[in-house]
Amino acid sequence: MCGIVGCILKDKEKHVAPILLECVKNLDYRGYDSVGIATIDGKIYVKKDKGKIPEVDEKLNLADMPGNFGIAHVRWPSTGIANKVNAHPQLDEGNGIAVVHNGSLKNYNELKGELVADGFKFKSTTDTEVIPHLIRKYINEGLDLEHAFRKTIERLDGSYAIAVISKDENNKILATRHQSPLKIGISDDAYFISSDVPAIIEYTRNIILPSEGEIIILDENGVTVHDEYDNEVKKEICVIPWTAQMASKGDHPYYMIKEILEQDKAVEFTLGERDNIQKIIDDLGNIKNICFVACGTSYHASLTGKYLIQHFAKIKTDVVLASEFKYSADTLDEETLVVFISQSGETLDSINALRIAKETSPTLAIVNTEGSAMTEEAKYTIVTQAGPEKGVAATKTYIAQLTAIYLFTALLTKNHDLIKELDKVPNYIREVLEKSEEIEVLSKRYSFAEDLFYLGRGFSYPVALEGALKLKEISLIHAEGYASGELKHGPLALINHRVPVIVILPPGTDYDDTMTNLEEVKSRKAIILSICAEGDNKAECKSKDIFTINPEVNEIIAPLVYTVPLQLLAYYVTLEKGHDPDKPENLAKVITV
Ligand code: AGP
Repeated sequence: MCGIVGCILKDKEKHVAPILLECVKNLDYRGYDSVGIATIDGKIYVKKDKGKIPEVDEKLNLADMPGNFGIAHVRWPSTGIANKVNAHPQLDEGNGIAVVHNGSLKNYNELKGELVADGFKFKSTTDTEVIPHLIRKYINEGLDLEHAFRKTIERLDGSYAIAVISKDENNKILATRHQSPLKIGISDDAYFISSDVPAIIEYTRNIILPSEGEIIILDENGVTVHDEYDNEVKKEICVIPWTAQMASKGDHPYYMIKEILEQDKAVEFTLGERDNIQKIIDDLGNIKNICFVACGTSYHASLTGKYLIQHFAKIKTDVVLASEFKYSADTLDEETLVVFISQSGETLDSINALRIAKETSPTLAIVNTEGSAMTEEAKYTIVTQAGPEKGVAATKTYIAQLTAIYLFTALLTKNHDLIKELDKVPNYIREVLEKSEEIEVLSKRYSFAEDLFYLGRGFSYPVALEGALKLKEISLIHAEGYASGELKHGPLALINHRVPVIVILPPGTDYDDTMTNLEEVKSRKAIILSICAEGDNKAECKSKDIFTINPEVNEIIAPLVYTVPLQLLAYYVTLEKGHDPDKPENLAKVITV
């Protein structure tokens, strides 16, 4: 999605543009199709264009703008193609009001029609441009900036985090949010608003979390927050446990590899959430059903949750895609725990589903971002301890989600053996990471493929789905994850000597059946790469290549470990294809529309 930032420096002599530029660089995982900055120094200065930040900066020298306050934006287009005119900030006709917006307005066509009839002229094809025109309209009618802003947001239908500056009241930034994330940051010499904490963490860890609909005013004297009735609201400042170093790439070429290499720690730290999870379980009471709801990678973590809970707790468990959830909502009741899994805690499909679920059922959000919207909405929250993740492909947050679900299951069923197994997982992961060069070599042999299949059964089925998703989203190679027993019901027709098949083959009760499926694809001449246990001679004989894992990792615990080589494969194949793994085509890290 898009990302917005605003900053006001207390020292009027200083220039804010270099800081805004650093902030949007740290926010570029939310959008990288265009970038723009607006500052004020007597008049509004704007620099913006289509392209990634370094390209636009090279052309326009974004840090070179006057003024001690301003706003900035990185764009992932939802309404209007990526081009210079559609880049934010969007301005009113007289270039007196500048707006940055993350979200999507459902009623912009209707508002645009009204404004055009009133004589306002539009330059862009964005939904956002209605905002500066509406503010101007209400100022023309006699309101001050704040009241014109309030009246404008009353007219908006959709999701938005917005920041506004105006040359007529050139001492403040106004902001608000509705169904889109926004944080306020406070440092010794500046005040910030930002879509996400990593953008401003270099400058401050003191964060205020504004609620939906609150109006935020930043000026040189501080931050004030008002509710919808214009009453001032006292907000608590929380200190975010993340550091600038955690959110940086360090010496790594890409965030994705840094984040893959941090997965042993993500498991260790998330296992530290034991007391919190136990408290939630103690409070839950009688739960007869569980329903997981999520999108993308988090959906794959949910699917593993279903296998785990059904296997160990014998509780009937469903898994529903968040965007399809409303069709299941009528089956919920107070004895069904609805568990939402989300790295960001801001995915709109999941938030919408959560709002439906909480009407009837207890809700639990498993998120990686403290203070995200889902933590506000859910009854219970587990915060996974993966630290900030910036690669668009979820890696360490996925392994942390799985850890939280395994720990939840182990505590729910008082399964001490499972807890002991979980304690060994960081070591198993480290063993895989130490052999990442083997995957790098393999990636050169598999990057020729145009289609790949990933096969797994039982606990390994979600692993296959996740392996395929990782590969397709960053390498742009078509890949399908399949339940290995299902392949013969159709897709086997596509298997031939040009199609690599990656088989997830941990030791356990499903091994023989999966081996039968491996033989089926082998007899269709598929090129087989098996991810299997060390010493698995059978797999070695029947596969072209193998990548081996500690044989103590059985099929139940396998998702936490067998996923790691698949992430590495996706990463190295992507490099081999010459793509940027952190910024795949058409995608963004947080999907708030
Ligand atoms: C993961 O690699 C993807 N980028 C994507 O599928 C992601 O998992 C999905 O958008 C859900 O995001 P969330 O976990 O923040 O809700």
